[in-house]
Amino acid sequence: MRVDGIIYMDHHATTPADPAAVAAMRPYFEERFGNPASKTHIFGWTAEEAVERARGQIAALLGCAPAEILFTSGATESDNLAVKGIARANVDRGRHLVTAVTEHKAVLDSMHLLEEEGFEVTYLPVGRDGLLDPADVRRALRPDTTLVSIMAANGEIGVLQPICEIAAAAHEVGAFFHTDAVQAVGRIPVRVEEWGADLASISAHKMYGPKGVGAIYVRRRSPRIRMKPILTGGGQEGGIRPGTLNVPGIVGFGEACRVAQQNLPTEAPRLLALRERLREGIAGRIEGTRVNGSLERRVPGNLNLSFERIEGETLLMSLEGVALSSGSACTSKSVEASYVLRALGLPEGLAQTSIRFGLGRWNTEEDVDYVIEEVARKAARLRGPGAARIGVGSR
Ligand SMILES: Cc1ncc(COP(=O)(O)O)c(C=O)c1O
Repeated sequence: MRVDGIIYMDHHATTPADPAAVAAMRPYFEERFGNPASKTHIFGWTAEEAVERARGQIAALLGCAPAEILFTSGATESDNLAVKGIARANVDRGRHLVTAVTEHKAVLDSMHLLEEEGFEVTYLPVGRDGLLDPADVRRALRPDTTLVSIMAANGEIGVLQPICEIAAAAHEVGAFFHTDAVQAVGRIPVRVEEWGADLASISAHKMYGPKGVGAIYVRRRSPRIRMKPILTGGGQEGGIRPGTLNVPGIVGFGEACRVAQQNLPTEAPRLLALRERLREGIAGRIEGTRVNGSLERRVPGNLNLSFERIEGETLLMSLEGVALSSGSACTSKSVEASYVLRALGLPEGLAQTSIRFGLGRWNTEEDVDYVIEEVARKAARLRGPGAARIGVGSR
């Protein structure tokens, strides 16, 4: 996919909205502009019908009941709601929470805030492959643990955590299990019930829907989940997330889920083949590249590479005709090495040399071949005589 001649290969940061999602949204800005909370006229009923259709489309993709989906403004809000909402509503049971050091900041910073409120948080380390050991989770659990929050797929290195084992361990001590499934949904089959998740966060703009809309799955079956809302106001979304619903966004989100469900069986192997073409192409052209995170347990379109003796940021800035990133968009303004890569045990120098490739729906083999050539050309130039050298062996 090229826009003004530039290949977009940063699909973990965000994705372009699918034309079907955009087309579905349009009438809900125009003649079907009603508020779904308006119960006395057709404008409200039409909007409500659209919201409920979208709820069904999202539930179908996640493998749950429509009533278990609550709409939010995005996954940052869903993560906040899950972590703070569960912790604060279950203090009579305990004040201990478990998460991993490689979680998204929306989870980590919620945990930090709860620590200031008197909660105790265990931050689990990951292995060199970026994966958690379920035995470590088990050891961290206590009778007063109320929540375990572990992401399904990492946004930087794409690794897939052993969610089912972790959920089962959490349930053994009566703790709830939340998963940030933002980077998994639409990329791998997500079945929240089979995973044993009590709560899951998802975001439309990471899966070819619009920005500013997300959802949280909250399991309905017993034991009942007690959750404190963060916002107060009207009674929308069962009072858990009050506020007038973003109807056009929700409609686009639902349509994006429908398209994702339809595409997944063909799109996942296609992206995997592109990813392997990219990995082999770059490894064949540039010596001293290494893959960060497990290659086997990974979303198909993700590749995160470190380049010995080249600073990733310098390489990125030198690349022409391709949009890539050095880590999560939220932290990419900082010059520090990614906290996710540091957690894998990479030395600062090597962690700073990383580039994240995020392949998506409209990327082609030609895009991949161009990127291989461009990265190889610029890497050779940066490693050439007189070039500044950092990374392995330089510190
Ligand atoms: C794993 C993960 N969780 C949460 C978020 C936040 O999502 P949103 O942009 O919808 O707030 C992101 C986006 O970067 C993400 O990658």
